Amino acid sequence: MTQMIRFFLNGHRQDVQIRPDTTVLEWLRGEARLKGTKEGCAEGDCGACSVLIGTDRDAIAQADTAAGEPQSDHADGAFRYRAVNSCILTMGQLDGKALVTVEGLKTSQLHPVQAAMAENGSSQCGFCTPGIVMSLSGLAADCASTGAKADDQLIHDTLAGNLCRCTGYRPIVEAARKVVAQGGAVVAAPESDALKNIRPQSGFSYGGSTYHQPQTLKELLELRTQYPQSLLLAGGTDLGVALADYHGDWDEVISTAHVRELREIREDATSFRFGAAVTWAEVLATIGNYYPSLTVLLRRFGSVQIRNQGTIGGNIGTASPIGDGAPALIGLGALIELAGMEGSRTLPLEDFFLDYRKTELRAGEVIASVTLPKLTPDQDYRVYKISKRYDQDISTVCGAFRVTQENGIVTDARIAFGGMAAIPKRVQSAEQALMGKALNEAAVAACAQAIAVELAPLSDWRGSAEYRLMVAQNLVERLRHDLAGEVVEVMAL
Ligand SMILES: Cc1cc2nc3c(=O)[nH]c(=O)nc-3n(C[C@H](O)[C@H](O)[C@H](O)COP(=O)(O)OP(=O)(O)OC[C@H]3O[C@@H](n4cnc5c(N)ncnc54)[C@H](O)[C@@H]3O)c2cc1C
Ligand code: FES
Ligand code: FES
Repeated sequence: MTQMIRFFLNGHRQDVQIRPDTTVLEWLRGEARLKGTKEGCAEGDCGACSVLIGTDRDAIAQADTAAGEPQSDHADGAFRYRAVNSCILTMGQLDGKALVTVEGLKTSQLHPVQAAMAENGSSQCGFCTPGIVMSLSGLAADCASTGAKADDQLIHDTLAGNLCRCTGYRPIVEAARKVVAQGGAVVAAPESDALKNIRPQSGFSYGGSTYHQPQTLKELLELRTQYPQSLLLAGGTDLGVALADYHGDWDEVISTAHVRELREIREDATSFRFGAAVTWAEVLATIGNYYPSLTVLLRRFGSVQIRNQGTIGGNIGTASPIGDGAPALIGLGALIELAGMEGSRTLPLEDFFLDYRKTELRAGEVIASVTLPKLTPDQDYRVYKISKRYDQDISTVCGAFRVTQENGIVTDARIAFGGMAAIPKRVQSAEQALMGKALNEAAVAACAQAIAVELAPLSDWRGSAEYRLMVAQNLVERLRHDLAGEVVEVMAL
Protein backbone atom coordinates (compact mmCIF):
# COMPACT_ATOMS: atom_id res chain seq x y z
CA MET A 1 0.00 0.00 0.00
CA THR A 2 1.33 3.42 -0.93
CA GLN A 3 2.31 5.99 1.67
CA MET A 4 1.26 8.92 -0.51
CA ILE A 5 -1.96 10.88 -0.55
CA ARG A 6 -2.42 12.32 -4.06
CA PHE A 7 -4.37 15.45 -4.77
CA PHE A 8 -4.12 18.85 -6.43
CA LEU A 9 -3.50 21.99 -4.42
CA ASN A 10 -4.36 25.20 -6.22
CA GLY A 11 -3.79 23.47 -9.54
CA HIS A 12 -0.53 21.75 -8.62
CA ARG A 13 -0.15 18.00 -8.09
CA GLN A 14 0.80 16.98 -4.55
CA ASP A 15 2.05 13.62 -3.31
CA VAL A 16 2.00 14.02 0.43
CA GLN A 17 3.35 11.63 3.01
CA ILE A 18 1.42 12.32 6.18
CA ARG A 19 -0.93 10.55 8.61
CA PRO A 20 -4.29 10.50 6.78
CA ASP A 21 -6.07 11.58 9.97
CA THR A 22 -4.24 14.94 10.05
CA THR A 23 -6.73 17.74 9.49
CA VAL A 24 -6.41 19.64 6.23
CA LEU A 25 -6.28 22.90 8.19
CA GLU A 26 -3.35 21.66 10.25
CA TRP A 27 -1.47 20.65 7.12
CA LEU A 28 -2.25 23.87 5.25
CA ARG A 29 -1.14 26.20 8.02
CA GLY A 30 1.74 23.97 9.13
CA GLU A 31 3.53 22.03 6.44
CA ALA A 32 2.16 23.81 3.38
CA ARG A 33 2.71 27.24 4.98
CA LEU A 34 -0.52 28.55 3.48
CA LYS A 35 -1.83 30.69 6.29
CA GLY A 36 -4.62 32.46 4.44
CA THR A 37 -6.95 29.73 5.70
CA LYS A 38 -7.77 30.66 9.29
CA GLU A 39 -8.60 28.69 12.39
CA GLY A 40 -11.51 29.98 14.43
CA CYS A 41 -13.67 27.43 16.23
CA ALA A 42 -11.95 24.29 14.89
CA GLU A 43 -15.27 22.46 14.94
CA GLY A 44 -17.06 23.33 11.73
CA ASP A 45 -19.09 26.23 13.04
CA CYS A 46 -17.50 29.53 12.03
CA GLY A 47 -16.34 29.01 8.43
CA ALA A 48 -12.96 30.77 8.90
CA CYS A 49 -11.23 27.66 7.55
CA SER A 50 -13.40 27.30 4.42
CA VAL A 51 -11.72 25.89 1.32
CA LEU A 52 -13.05 24.52 -1.93
CA ILE A 53 -12.90 20.85 -2.82
CA GLY A 54 -13.19 19.93 -6.47
CA THR A 55 -14.29 16.56 -7.72
CA ASP A 56 -15.86 15.13 -10.85
CA ARG A 57 -17.50 12.37 -8.83
CA ASP A 58 -20.87 13.57 -7.71
CA ALA A 59 -23.64 11.25 -6.66
CA ILE A 60 -24.75 8.97 -9.45
CA ALA A 61 -28.32 9.74 -10.40
CA GLN A 62 -29.85 6.49 -11.56
CA ALA A 63 -33.20 7.45 -12.98
CA ASP A 64 -35.32 4.36 -13.55
CA THR A 65 -37.03 6.22 -16.35
CA ALA A 66 -33.78 6.68 -18.28
CA ALA A 67 -33.39 3.14 -19.63
CA GLY A 68 -31.56 2.14 -16.45
CA GLU A 69 -28.38 3.85 -17.58
CA PRO A 70 -26.42 5.42 -14.74
CA GLN A 71 -26.29 9.15 -15.22
CA SER A 72 -23.71 11.15 -13.41
CA ASP A 73 -24.78 14.75 -13.11
CA HIS A 74 -21.24 15.35 -14.27
CA ALA A 75 -21.59 13.70 -17.64
CA ASP A 76 -19.26 16.44 -18.92
CA GLY A 77 -16.47 15.24 -16.60
CA ALA A 78 -16.12 18.78 -15.26
CA PHE A 79 -14.90 19.44 -11.78
CA ARG A 80 -17.37 21.00 -9.40
CA TYR A 81 -16.00 22.98 -6.50
CA ARG A 82 -17.76 23.09 -3.17
CA ALA A 83 -16.99 24.91 0.05
CA VAL A 84 -16.14 22.72 3.06
CA ASN A 85 -14.60 23.31 6.47
CA SER A 86 -10.94 22.28 6.45
CA CYS A 87 -10.77 22.08 10.26
CA ILE A 88 -12.90 18.92 10.31
CA LEU A 89 -11.70 17.49 7.00
CA THR A 90 -8.84 15.01 7.02
CA MET A 91 -5.97 14.69 4.57
CA GLY A 92 -7.14 11.21 3.60
CA GLN A 93 -10.38 12.72 2.33
CA LEU A 94 -8.41 14.84 -0.18
CA ASP A 95 -7.08 11.87 -2.11
CA GLY A 96 -8.16 12.02 -5.76
CA LYS A 97 -9.58 15.51 -5.40
CA ALA A 98 -8.62 19.12 -6.00
CA LEU A 99 -8.18 21.51 -3.10
CA VAL A 100 -8.38 25.27 -3.63
CA THR A 101 -7.41 27.68 -0.87
CA VAL A 102 -7.71 31.45 -0.80
CA GLU A 103 -4.15 31.65 -2.12
CA GLY A 104 -5.26 29.72 -5.20
CA LEU A 105 -8.01 32.13 -6.15
CA LYS A 106 -5.85 35.07 -7.02
CA THR A 107 -3.89 34.76 -10.22
CA SER A 108 -2.61 37.94 -11.92
CA GLN A 109 -5.55 39.90 -10.59
CA LEU A 110 -8.06 39.67 -7.79
CA HIS A 111 -10.76 37.04 -8.07
CA PRO A 112 -14.14 38.75 -8.68
CA VAL A 113 -15.23 37.87 -5.14
CA GLN A 114 -12.08 39.39 -3.65
CA ALA A 115 -12.53 42.52 -5.79
CA ALA A 116 -16.19 42.91 -4.78
CA MET A 117 -15.35 42.42 -1.09
CA ALA A 118 -12.64 45.09 -1.29
CA GLU A 119 -14.80 47.55 -3.26
CA ASN A 120 -17.74 47.19 -0.85
CA GLY A 121 -15.77 47.58 2.36
CA SER A 122 -16.84 44.07 3.34
CA SER A 123 -14.01 43.47 5.77
CA GLN A 124 -12.68 45.05 8.95
CA CYS A 125 -10.37 42.87 11.04
CA GLY A 126 -10.30 40.47 8.11
CA PHE A 127 -10.09 37.26 10.10
CA CYS A 128 -13.28 35.87 8.62
CA THR A 129 -12.63 37.30 5.15
CA PRO A 130 -10.73 34.42 3.50
CA GLY A 131 -13.44 31.98 4.59
CA ILE A 132 -16.17 34.25 3.28
CA VAL A 133 -14.32 34.71 0.00
CA MET A 134 -14.08 30.94 -0.36
CA SER A 135 -17.78 30.39 0.40
CA LEU A 136 -18.83 33.06 -2.07
CA SER A 137 -16.45 31.82 -4.74
CA GLY A 138 -17.96 28.35 -4.24
CA LEU A 139 -21.38 29.88 -4.84
CA ALA A 140 -20.15 31.78 -7.89
CA ALA A 141 -18.47 28.68 -9.32
CA ASP A 142 -21.60 26.62 -8.76
CA CYS A 143 -23.81 29.21 -10.43
CA ALA A 144 -21.38 29.46 -13.33
CA SER A 145 -21.31 25.70 -13.88
CA THR A 146 -25.00 24.94 -13.35
CA GLY A 147 -26.41 28.15 -14.78
CA ALA A 148 -28.37 28.63 -11.53
CA LYS A 149 -29.23 32.18 -10.50
CA ALA A 150 -28.30 33.09 -6.97
CA ASP A 151 -31.03 35.10 -5.30
CA ASP A 152 -30.78 36.72 -1.88
CA GLN A 153 -32.00 33.57 -0.18
CA LEU A 154 -29.18 31.53 -1.71
CA ILE A 155 -26.66 34.23 -0.77
CA HIS A 156 -27.88 34.22 2.84
CA ASP A 157 -27.82 30.41 2.90
CA THR A 158 -24.26 30.48 1.58
CA LEU A 159 -23.14 32.86 4.31
CA ALA A 160 -24.94 31.04 7.14
CA GLY A 161 -21.79 29.01 7.83
CA ASN A 162 -19.46 32.01 7.93
CA LEU A 163 -19.32 34.02 11.10
CA CYS A 164 -18.26 37.67 10.87
CA ARG A 165 -18.15 39.50 14.16
CA CYS A 166 -17.10 42.98 13.15
CA THR A 167 -18.06 44.03 9.63
CA GLY A 168 -21.77 43.27 9.74
CA TYR A 169 -23.28 41.29 6.91
CA ARG A 170 -24.79 44.06 4.78
CA PRO A 171 -21.61 44.95 2.85
CA ILE A 172 -20.75 41.28 2.53
CA VAL A 173 -24.18 40.50 1.08
CA GLU A 174 -23.82 43.47 -1.27
CA ALA A 175 -20.48 42.14 -2.49
CA ALA A 176 -22.12 38.77 -3.07
CA ARG A 177 -24.97 40.33 -5.03
CA LYS A 178 -22.45 42.12 -7.22
CA VAL A 179 -20.52 38.95 -7.97
CA VAL A 180 -23.55 36.85 -8.84
CA ALA A 181 -24.96 39.67 -10.98
CA GLN A 182 -21.70 39.72 -12.97
CA GLY A 183 -21.91 35.96 -13.50
CA GLY A 184 -19.12 33.82 -14.88
CA ALA A 185 -16.95 33.90 -11.76
CA VAL A 186 -15.10 30.62 -11.65
CA VAL A 187 -12.38 29.13 -9.54
CA ALA A 188 -9.02 30.35 -10.77
CA ALA A 189 -7.17 27.06 -10.28
CA PRO A 190 -6.05 25.70 -13.65
CA GLU A 191 -7.81 22.52 -14.78
CA SER A 192 -5.11 20.51 -16.47
CA ASP A 193 -5.68 17.08 -18.02
CA ALA A 194 -3.70 15.63 -15.13
CA LEU A 195 -6.26 17.09 -12.74
CA LYS A 196 -9.11 15.58 -14.71
CA ASN A 197 -7.44 12.18 -14.70
CA ILE A 198 -6.76 11.98 -10.98
CA ARG A 199 -8.63 9.12 -9.34
CA PRO A 200 -8.93 8.03 -5.72
CA GLN A 201 -6.49 5.30 -4.74
CA SER A 202 -7.66 2.10 -3.05
CA GLY A 203 -5.80 3.06 0.10
CA PHE A 204 -2.70 4.52 1.71
CA SER A 205 -0.95 4.27 5.01
CA TYR A 206 1.50 6.41 6.91
CA GLY A 207 2.63 6.93 10.49
CA GLY A 208 0.46 4.12 11.86
CA SER A 209 -2.73 5.38 10.22
CA THR A 210 -4.25 3.41 7.36
CA TYR A 211 -6.98 4.72 5.10
CA HIS A 212 -9.01 2.40 2.86
CA GLN A 213 -11.08 3.71 -0.04
CA PRO A 214 -13.24 0.86 -1.32
CA GLN A 215 -15.05 1.49 -4.60
CA THR A 216 -17.81 -1.12 -4.32
CA LEU A 217 -20.13 -2.34 -1.58
CA LYS A 218 -18.53 -5.78 -1.78
CA GLU A 219 -15.07 -4.31 -1.13
CA LEU A 220 -16.47 -2.20 1.72
CA LEU A 221 -18.07 -5.20 3.43
CA GLU A 222 -14.96 -7.34 2.99
CA LEU A 223 -12.86 -4.62 4.61
CA ARG A 224 -15.38 -4.28 7.48
CA THR A 225 -15.03 -8.01 8.11
CA GLN A 226 -11.25 -7.91 7.85
CA TYR A 227 -10.90 -4.85 10.12
CA PRO A 228 -13.84 -5.01 12.57
CA GLN A 229 -12.37 -2.30 14.80
CA SER A 230 -11.91 0.15 11.93
CA LEU A 231 -13.58 3.56 11.86
CA LEU A 232 -16.28 3.86 9.22
CA LEU A 233 -15.99 7.35 7.80
CA ALA A 234 -18.50 9.04 5.50
CA GLY A 235 -18.26 12.86 5.28
CA GLY A 236 -16.61 13.19 8.68
CA THR A 237 -18.62 16.23 9.79
CA ASP A 238 -19.49 14.39 12.95
CA LEU A 239 -16.36 12.31 13.45
CA GLY A 240 -14.11 15.20 12.41
CA VAL A 241 -15.32 17.39 15.27
CA ALA A 242 -14.25 14.82 17.83
CA LEU A 243 -10.92 14.39 16.02
CA ALA A 244 -10.26 18.15 15.97
CA ASP A 245 -11.50 18.66 19.53
CA TYR A 246 -9.81 15.79 21.29
CA HIS A 247 -6.89 15.18 18.94
CA GLY A 248 -7.71 11.48 18.89
CA ASP A 249 -6.08 9.07 16.49
CA TRP A 250 -7.71 7.18 13.64
CA ASP A 251 -5.48 4.20 13.09
CA GLU A 252 -7.68 2.23 10.66
CA VAL A 253 -10.21 4.11 8.56
CA ILE A 254 -12.60 2.79 5.92
CA SER A 255 -14.12 5.55 3.84
CA THR A 256 -17.54 5.16 2.23
CA ALA A 257 -17.04 8.25 0.07
CA HIS A 258 -16.24 6.38 -3.16
CA VAL A 259 -18.44 3.30 -2.78
CA ARG A 260 -20.48 3.32 -5.94
CA GLU A 261 -23.65 1.75 -4.52
CA LEU A 262 -23.59 4.14 -1.57
CA ARG A 263 -23.31 7.13 -3.91
CA GLU A 264 -26.37 6.22 -5.97
CA ILE A 265 -29.57 8.21 -6.12
CA ARG A 266 -32.65 6.52 -7.58
CA GLU A 267 -36.02 8.01 -8.18
CA ASP A 268 -39.13 6.22 -9.34
CA ALA A 269 -42.85 6.92 -9.29
CA THR A 270 -43.22 6.20 -5.59
CA SER A 271 -39.92 7.01 -3.92
CA PHE A 272 -36.48 8.61 -3.73
CA ARG A 273 -33.69 6.23 -2.71
CA PHE A 274 -30.43 7.72 -1.48
CA GLY A 275 -27.23 5.73 -1.02
CA ALA A 276 -25.86 6.25 2.48
CA ALA A 277 -22.88 8.29 1.23
CA VAL A 278 -25.01 10.83 -0.63
CA THR A 279 -24.45 14.27 0.87
CA TRP A 280 -27.23 16.45 2.25
CA ALA A 281 -26.45 19.00 -0.49
CA GLU A 282 -27.12 16.25 -3.05
CA VAL A 283 -30.31 15.19 -1.25
CA LEU A 284 -31.47 18.79 -1.27
CA ALA A 285 -30.68 19.20 -4.97
CA THR A 286 -32.57 15.98 -5.77
CA ILE A 287 -35.76 16.59 -3.83
CA GLY A 288 -35.92 20.24 -4.90
CA ASN A 289 -39.25 21.43 -3.59
CA TYR A 290 -40.94 18.02 -3.59
CA TYR A 291 -41.34 18.11 0.20
CA PRO A 292 -41.25 21.89 0.79
CA SER A 293 -41.14 21.51 4.54
CA LEU A 294 -38.18 19.11 4.39
CA THR A 295 -36.40 21.50 2.05
CA VAL A 296 -36.77 24.30 4.60
CA LEU A 297 -35.39 21.99 7.30
CA LEU A 298 -32.43 20.91 5.19
CA ARG A 299 -31.56 24.49 4.35
CA ARG A 300 -31.17 24.91 8.12
CA PHE A 301 -29.12 21.71 8.49
CA GLY A 302 -25.68 22.96 9.54
CA SER A 303 -24.38 25.20 6.79
CA VAL A 304 -23.57 24.87 3.10
CA GLN A 305 -20.10 23.64 4.11
CA ILE A 306 -21.61 20.97 6.37
CA ARG A 307 -24.23 19.90 3.82
CA ASN A 308 -21.56 19.65 1.11
CA GLN A 309 -19.68 17.09 3.18
CA GLY A 310 -22.11 15.47 5.63
CA THR A 311 -24.14 12.51 4.41
CA ILE A 312 -27.59 11.08 5.01
CA GLY A 313 -26.10 7.75 6.18
CA GLY A 314 -23.66 9.48 8.52
CA ASN A 315 -26.47 11.44 10.14
CA ILE A 316 -28.45 8.29 10.85
CA GLY A 317 -25.27 6.43 11.78
CA THR A 318 -24.61 8.85 14.63
CA ALA A 319 -27.94 7.72 16.19
CA SER A 320 -28.04 11.12 17.82
CA PRO A 321 -31.27 11.83 19.72
CA ILE A 322 -31.09 15.45 18.57
CA GLY A 323 -30.12 14.94 14.92
CA ASP A 324 -32.53 16.29 12.33
CA GLY A 325 -32.49 13.61 9.67
CA ALA A 326 -33.96 10.76 11.72
CA PRO A 327 -37.14 12.41 13.08
CA ALA A 328 -37.78 14.14 9.75
CA LEU A 329 -37.47 10.89 7.83
CA ILE A 330 -39.28 8.68 10.37
CA GLY A 331 -42.19 11.12 10.15
CA LEU A 332 -42.12 10.73 6.39
CA GLY A 333 -42.18 6.92 6.61
CA ALA A 334 -38.61 6.27 5.37
CA LEU A 335 -37.04 2.84 5.11
CA ILE A 336 -33.42 2.02 5.85
CA GLU A 337 -31.42 -0.67 4.07
CA LEU A 338 -28.63 -2.39 5.99
CA ALA A 339 -26.05 -4.42 4.09
CA GLY A 340 -23.75 -7.16 5.38
CA MET A 341 -21.82 -10.10 3.98
CA GLU A 342 -24.96 -12.25 4.29
CA GLY A 343 -27.04 -9.87 2.23
CA SER A 344 -29.17 -6.87 2.95
CA ARG A 345 -32.32 -6.21 4.96
CA THR A 346 -34.71 -3.30 4.96
CA LEU A 347 -36.61 -1.97 7.93
CA PRO A 348 -38.67 1.06 8.88
CA LEU A 349 -36.25 3.77 9.99
CA GLU A 350 -37.84 4.00 13.47
CA ASP A 351 -36.89 0.36 14.12
CA PHE A 352 -33.21 1.15 13.53
CA PHE A 353 -32.88 3.00 16.84
CA LEU A 354 -32.90 0.73 19.89
CA ASP A 355 -31.60 2.80 22.79
CA TYR A 356 -29.30 5.78 23.38
CA ARG A 357 -26.73 5.52 20.52
CA LYS A 358 -27.63 1.81 20.12
CA THR A 359 -28.87 0.67 16.73
CA GLU A 360 -29.91 -2.40 14.79
CA LEU A 361 -26.54 -2.51 12.97
CA ARG A 362 -24.92 -5.90 13.40
CA ALA A 363 -21.18 -6.48 13.34
CA GLY A 364 -19.91 -6.01 9.81
CA GLU A 365 -23.09 -4.30 8.58
CA VAL A 366 -23.31 -0.82 7.09
CA ILE A 367 -26.17 1.46 6.24
CA ALA A 368 -26.58 1.05 2.48
CA SER A 369 -29.46 3.36 1.60
CA VAL A 370 -32.44 5.31 2.82
CA THR A 371 -35.72 5.37 0.88
CA LEU A 372 -38.16 8.26 1.14
CA PRO A 373 -41.70 7.50 -0.01
CA LYS A 374 -43.34 10.07 -2.25
CA LEU A 375 -46.54 11.59 -0.94
CA THR A 376 -49.94 10.54 -2.21
CA PRO A 377 -52.35 13.36 -3.15
CA ASP A 378 -54.26 12.97 0.14
CA GLN A 379 -51.12 13.26 2.30
CA ASP A 380 -49.54 16.30 3.92
CA TYR A 381 -46.09 16.34 5.44
CA ARG A 382 -44.57 18.90 7.76
CA VAL A 383 -41.35 19.00 9.76
CA TYR A 384 -40.51 21.76 12.26
CA LYS A 385 -37.10 22.43 13.77
CA ILE A 386 -37.01 24.45 16.98
CA SER A 387 -33.54 25.65 17.88
CA LYS A 388 -31.99 28.58 19.70
CA ARG A 389 -30.70 30.09 16.44
CA TYR A 390 -32.39 29.86 13.07
CA ASP A 391 -29.22 28.85 11.19
CA GLN A 392 -26.31 26.60 12.15
CA ASP A 393 -27.84 25.18 15.28
CA ILE A 394 -28.75 21.80 16.68
CA SER A 395 -32.45 21.16 17.30
CA THR A 396 -33.88 21.47 20.75
CA VAL A 397 -36.96 19.72 19.41
CA CYS A 398 -37.64 18.50 15.89
CA GLY A 399 -41.17 17.31 15.10
CA ALA A 400 -42.29 15.63 11.88
CA PHE A 401 -45.84 14.79 10.81
CA ARG A 402 -47.38 12.98 7.87
CA VAL A 403 -51.15 13.13 7.83
CA THR A 404 -53.50 11.41 5.39
CA GLN A 405 -57.03 12.80 5.27
CA GLU A 406 -60.16 11.74 3.44
CA ASN A 407 -63.04 14.20 3.39
CA GLY A 408 -61.50 16.09 6.31
CA ILE A 409 -61.02 12.98 8.47
CA VAL A 410 -57.58 11.65 9.40
CA THR A 411 -57.21 8.14 8.00
CA ASP A 412 -53.51 7.74 8.71
CA ALA A 413 -50.90 9.64 10.74
CA ARG A 414 -47.21 9.42 11.43
CA ILE A 415 -45.65 11.53 14.17
CA ALA A 416 -41.97 11.55 15.13
CA PHE A 417 -39.83 13.68 17.39
CA GLY A 418 -36.16 14.34 17.93
CA GLY A 419 -34.90 15.84 21.21
CA MET A 420 -37.71 14.24 23.20
CA ALA A 421 -36.20 10.89 24.20
CA ALA A 422 -32.93 8.94 24.16
CA ILE A 423 -33.61 8.09 20.52
CA PRO A 424 -35.45 9.73 17.63
CA LYS A 425 -38.94 8.46 18.34
CA ARG A 426 -42.16 7.67 16.54
CA VAL A 427 -45.13 8.28 18.84
CA GLN A 428 -47.84 5.82 17.86
CA SER A 429 -50.26 6.68 20.68
CA ALA A 430 -50.21 10.30 19.49
CA GLU A 431 -50.92 9.10 15.95
CA GLN A 432 -53.84 7.01 17.20
CA ALA A 433 -55.26 10.06 18.95
CA LEU A 434 -55.76 11.70 15.54
CA MET A 435 -57.17 8.70 13.69
CA GLY A 436 -60.75 8.89 12.50
CA LYS A 437 -61.07 12.50 13.61
CA ALA A 438 -61.13 15.88 12.01
CA LEU A 439 -57.92 17.78 12.75
CA ASN A 440 -59.56 20.16 15.18
CA GLU A 441 -58.80 21.52 18.66
CA ALA A 442 -60.15 18.43 20.42
CA ALA A 443 -58.03 16.08 18.30
CA VAL A 444 -54.95 18.21 18.88
CA ALA A 445 -55.58 18.19 22.64
CA ALA A 446 -55.89 14.39 22.67
CA CYS A 447 -52.69 14.10 20.62
CA ALA A 448 -50.85 16.49 22.96
CA GLN A 449 -52.02 14.44 25.94
CA ALA A 450 -50.66 11.25 24.37
CA ILE A 451 -47.32 12.97 23.77
CA ALA A 452 -47.14 13.92 27.47
CA VAL A 453 -47.81 10.33 28.49
CA GLU A 454 -45.41 8.66 26.07
CA LEU A 455 -42.42 11.02 26.02
CA ALA A 456 -40.21 12.01 28.92
CA PRO A 457 -37.62 14.42 27.55
CA LEU A 458 -34.40 15.30 29.33
CA SER A 459 -33.37 18.74 30.52
CA ASP A 460 -30.13 20.15 29.20
CA TRP A 461 -28.76 23.58 28.38
CA ARG A 462 -30.79 23.68 25.18
CA GLY A 463 -34.09 23.36 27.01
CA SER A 464 -35.76 21.97 30.12
CA ALA A 465 -37.94 18.87 29.98
CA GLU A 466 -41.02 21.08 30.57
CA TYR A 467 -40.05 23.41 27.74
CA ARG A 468 -39.44 20.55 25.34
CA LEU A 469 -42.75 18.92 26.15
CA MET A 470 -44.62 22.18 25.67
CA VAL A 471 -42.86 22.77 22.35
CA ALA A 472 -43.70 19.26 21.10
CA GLN A 473 -47.35 19.68 22.05
CA ASN A 474 -47.51 23.14 20.50
CA LEU A 475 -46.11 21.75 17.26
CA VAL A 476 -49.27 19.67 16.86
CA GLU A 477 -51.29 22.84 17.24
CA ARG A 478 -49.02 24.48 14.70
CA LEU A 479 -49.61 21.58 12.33
CA ARG A 480 -53.37 22.12 12.62
CA HIS A 481 -53.02 25.79 11.70
CA ASP A 482 -50.47 25.00 9.02
CA LEU A 483 -52.68 22.43 7.27
CA ALA A 484 -55.59 24.84 7.52
CA GLY A 485 -53.48 27.32 5.55
CA GLU A 486 -53.16 29.67 8.52
CA VAL A 487 -49.37 29.63 8.79
CA VAL A 488 -48.17 32.00 6.14
CA GLU A 489 -44.42 31.72 6.49
CA VAL A 490 -43.14 28.29 7.39
CA MET A 491 -39.61 29.66 7.83
CA ALA A 492 -40.53 32.30 10.37
CA LEU A 493 -39.64 30.27 13.44
C1 LIG B 1 -21.15 22.80 12.48
C2 LIG B 1 -22.02 21.57 12.41
C3 LIG B 1 -23.38 21.72 12.24
C4 LIG B 1 -24.20 20.59 12.20
N1 LIG B 1 -25.54 20.79 12.05
C5 LIG B 1 -26.36 19.72 12.08
C6 LIG B 1 -27.76 19.90 11.99
O1 LIG B 1 -28.26 21.01 11.83
N2 LIG B 1 -28.55 18.79 12.07
C7 LIG B 1 -28.03 17.55 12.24
O2 LIG B 1 -28.77 16.58 12.32
N3 LIG B 1 -26.69 17.34 12.30
C8 LIG B 1 -25.85 18.39 12.23
N4 LIG B 1 -24.50 18.19 12.31
C9 LIG B 1 -23.94 16.83 12.47
C10 LIG B 1 -23.44 16.17 11.15
O3 LIG B 1 -23.08 17.14 10.22
C11 LIG B 1 -24.50 15.27 10.52
O4 LIG B 1 -24.89 14.29 11.44
C12 LIG B 1 -24.00 14.60 9.23
O5 LIG B 1 -25.09 14.14 8.47
C13 LIG B 1 -23.06 13.45 9.53
O6 LIG B 1 -22.72 12.83 8.30
P1 LIG B 1 -21.20 12.50 7.96
O7 LIG B 1 -21.22 11.87 6.63
O8 LIG B 1 -20.35 13.69 8.10
O9 LIG B 1 -20.90 11.43 9.11
P2 LIG B 1 -19.51 10.94 9.69
O10 LIG B 1 -18.97 11.94 10.64
O11 LIG B 1 -18.61 10.47 8.64
O12 LIG B 1 -20.04 9.66 10.50
C14 LIG B 1 -20.96 9.79 11.57
C15 LIG B 1 -21.25 8.40 12.17
O13 LIG B 1 -21.98 7.62 11.24
C16 LIG B 1 -21.29 6.39 10.99
N5 LIG B 1 -21.53 6.06 9.59
C17 LIG B 1 -21.24 6.81 8.51
N6 LIG B 1 -21.64 6.18 7.37
C18 LIG B 1 -22.19 5.00 7.77
C19 LIG B 1 -22.77 3.90 7.07
N7 LIG B 1 -22.89 3.87 5.73
N8 LIG B 1 -23.21 2.85 7.80
C20 LIG B 1 -23.10 2.84 9.15
N9 LIG B 1 -22.57 3.86 9.86
C21 LIG B 1 -22.12 4.93 9.18
C22 LIG B 1 -19.85 6.69 11.30
O14 LIG B 1 -19.12 5.51 11.60
C23 LIG B 1 -20.00 7.61 12.50
O15 LIG B 1 -20.24 6.88 13.65
C24 LIG B 1 -23.64 19.30 12.32
C25 LIG B 1 -22.25 19.15 12.45
C26 LIG B 1 -21.45 20.27 12.50
C27 LIG B 1 -19.97 20.10 12.65
S1 FES C 1 -12.27 26.91 12.15
FE1 FES C 1 -14.39 27.35 12.46
S2 FES C 1 -15.32 26.16 10.91
FE2 FES C 1 -13.27 25.57 10.83
S1 FES D 1 -14.08 41.25 9.37
FE1 FES D 1 -13.68 40.87 11.46
S2 FES D 1 -14.76 39.05 11.86
FE2 FES D 1 -15.36 39.57 9.89
